[in-house]
Amino acid sequence: MILVKLGGSVITDKRRIRTFRKQNCLRLCRELRGAAGELFLIHGAGSFGHIMAARYDLQNGVGDDEAERLRKFSQVHMDVRKLNSKVMACMRDNRLTPFSLPPFSFATFSSGKIREFRPEVIGQLVDIGMTPVSFGDIVPDDANNFAICSGDLVMAEAARQFRPSKVIFVADVDGVYDYDPKMNKNARLLGEISPEVLDDIMAEGSGARDVTGSMRGKIERMIEISRHCDSCIVLNGNSPGRLAKAIKGTKVVSTKVIH
Ligand code: IPE
Repeated sequence: MILVKLGGSVITDKRRIRTFRKQNCLRLCRELRGAAGELFLIHGAGSFGHIMAARYDLQNGVGDDEAERLRKFSQVHMDVRKLNSKVMACMRDNRLTPFSLPPFSFATFSSGKIREFRPEVIGQLVDIGMTPVSFGDIVPDDANNFAICSGDLVMAEAARQFRPSKVIFVADVDGVYDYDPKMNKNARLLGEISPEVLDDIMAEGSGARDVTGSMRGKIERMIEISRHCDSCIVLNGNSPGRLAKAIKGTKVVSTKVIH
């Protein structure tokens, strides 16, 4: 299996609410064709999820009798499903055969963590040559009524279950940097990220934050994923051809994640 996450920042404009980057998504789906038949695709929520989730503080779940807050969860769920439909259409237009699997269709959640995971449905779809597509979403949660499930959480569990040959994180920068490259023009791209390198760069204090966790949390999860696959990389999806090449196994500008 090849596990790919299209980050929300490459398929949406993260600063403008519900803004889809259709041309980018179409091209990336074309590049994904090289993985057809063995692909499990996951995409982020970008500005279809994070802006409203942060505005309404949805990461803290919802209490009982909070009808107005429930409406907000419902709204964000609708928004991310709209984004998912758009991604699905881009895949279909590139002759892929996607099948949409919201996280709640194969997992249950407690305190924002996966409680049970049913890999069968995903494996079955891949076996018959379809491409299951999941995404960062709002999910029912038995401790907090609702929670946010990031695409990265699905990536981590899928890696543990399926032990993919390749895991590719498609970002809007060339890979992992020692500083946030959008804030610091002296930021250096790291060829490799390991627990030791992570400790070094975090000692300096860098990284952006959003509702599904700090940069450190994201990288720690990637390192954990690297234990369950042959190769795990982060590359730039705004640079045409890199995803296609990485799928073929050609070396591209990227950060290799190692443990
Ligand atoms: C976030 O998913 C889900 C919601 C905010 C509803 P991700 O964390 O996977 O999204 P991106 O890739 O950062 O946009």
